Amino acid sequence: MSVCAQSQNCPVIPLPNSYIQKSGTFTINKKTNIVEGPIWQTGDAAARIYSTYFQNFLGLPLTMVAAYRDGVFENGINLKKVKDAALGDEGYNLVVKPEAIIIKANTDTGFYYALQTLIQLMPVEDFYKPNNKSISIQCCEITDVPRFKYRGMHLDVSRHFFPVSFIKNYIELMEMHKMNTSQWHLTDDQGWRIEIKKYPKLTEVSSKRKESMIGAYDDNKFDGTPYSGFYTQEEIKDVVAFAALRNVTVIPEIEMPGHALAALVSYPQYSCTGGPFEVATKWGVFDDVFCPTEETFNFLQDVLSEVVTLFPSHYIHIGGDECPKTRWRICPKCQQRIKDEGLKDEFELQSYFIKRIEKFLLSKGKKIIGWDEILEGGASPTATIMSWRGMDGGIKAARSGNNVIMTPGSHCYFDHYQSESGNEPIGFGGNTTLFKVYSFEPVPPDSLNPQQQKLIVGAQGNVWSEYITTTTNAEFRAYPRAVALAEVLWSRKDQRNWTGFSSRLLNHFKRLDKLKLNYAKHIF
Ligand code: ACM
Ligand code: ZN
Repeated sequence: MSVCAQSQNCPVIPLPNSYIQKSGTFTINKKTNIVEGPIWQTGDAAARIYSTYFQNFLGLPLTMVAAYRDGVFENGINLKKVKDAALGDEGYNLVVKPEAIIIKANTDTGFYYALQTLIQLMPVEDFYKPNNKSISIQCCEITDVPRFKYRGMHLDVSRHFFPVSFIKNYIELMEMHKMNTSQWHLTDDQGWRIEIKKYPKLTEVSSKRKESMIGAYDDNKFDGTPYSGFYTQEEIKDVVAFAALRNVTVIPEIEMPGHALAALVSYPQYSCTGGPFEVATKWGVFDDVFCPTEETFNFLQDVLSEVVTLFPSHYIHIGGDECPKTRWRICPKCQQRIKDEGLKDEFELQSYFIKRIEKFLLSKGKKIIGWDEILEGGASPTATIMSWRGMDGGIKAARSGNNVIMTPGSHCYFDHYQSESGNEPIGFGGNTTLFKVYSFEPVPPDSLNPQQQKLIVGAQGNVWSEYITTTTNAEFRAYPRAVALAEVLWSRKDQRNWTGFSSRLLNHFKRLDKLKLNYAKHIF
């Protein structure tokens, strides 16, 4: 059998680049050791993580040993740090033989992904079982590297708020599927959700709304129930550290200049009209946005100064989408700014706004990501563009040399329906089936030359929460579509195969059942 055909027998999702089944099995038991190679070859962080996993999640305490000579130790999970350019920053080579397991990687991240693979090579019955006595694994050899370096999942916590415990679950599910970036949509018209010490009203006032829209948008019905929620800075640090241990980078999104109504309720002096405002109770896009005065920039820079200390990510997402120019067109301060800066129109004013914020963030060592509207009036070369209104923004951005993350509504918006069953809880609309997500190709084949194609750094699944009021519903919308996207982003394009994926997925569902995940079952 060819390696390619064989790989469809591999029970792992996302599908590894190469999987060769071998005869025999290796049995992990209480006497199995986790063996670090000579200390100058292997860092011990990886070994500690393996030990924790086996102890906590597989119910099998294993001993960690540091080897002082090279070689393979029998009945050992041998971790060998190597210098192998082909494995890159995240790849690994995993060999399961009857006498030992040997894992090679350049980095702790590589060891970590090998561990995730190893767990999925185990029989599903042993997954998250509290008191395993031994676990048998089919012998094989796997070599694996990701196709894309940005493998993202987004979560909107403004429209509806989700507790820290759920955010952690969301991150654990990402790590299991080798996703590595979580975009945390922390601010929007319907609620500000991150504590900023210099501006306490952002959480005292802007995190609360008097009621929420319920049902379909056109019904225009409200629940009459106050709604609130925010994360303290301590909670944010806790989540970021939790994620980092699992190779997930958390990127905060602080929306500007639009989707800013909640902030303007507390600080109306940073709007065009001066207010007063109230935190939005319905969904949509609002005309009252930040007015680009020096005072507004000082406010936003103060906010971002606190944000950058909480998030070690290289990137900060500054939103930039859906900023109506209604107020700016008639605001004397905005018109004066346009004149003073020699700008052509309000679109160039938006570009001016984003570039000023970007310059500030660059001074703090951070680059920006923005939705594709930041191309309006021109984007700077250091900005990464998140293409959501289809692929065109991404194509345009790559042609101008910008890095691009693809997240088109057609394939990556997991707030859309996922069937035509008519029995899903109310959603945003659309119909983005699991098959459609699996068929997503982030690199538009005919529109970009090879150099430009390399600028597509990955893609992201977006979970907007207007119509997601509970954590179980968030799980239902995100899964299993996130699993399909994970495979699109990790696995080789030429090995993507819907039939193979669906059969591996049915097996994988047994793991998700053990996690008590409320995934959607439309595939059945
Ligand atoms: C967006 O969906 N407004 C980025
Ligand atoms: Zn203005």
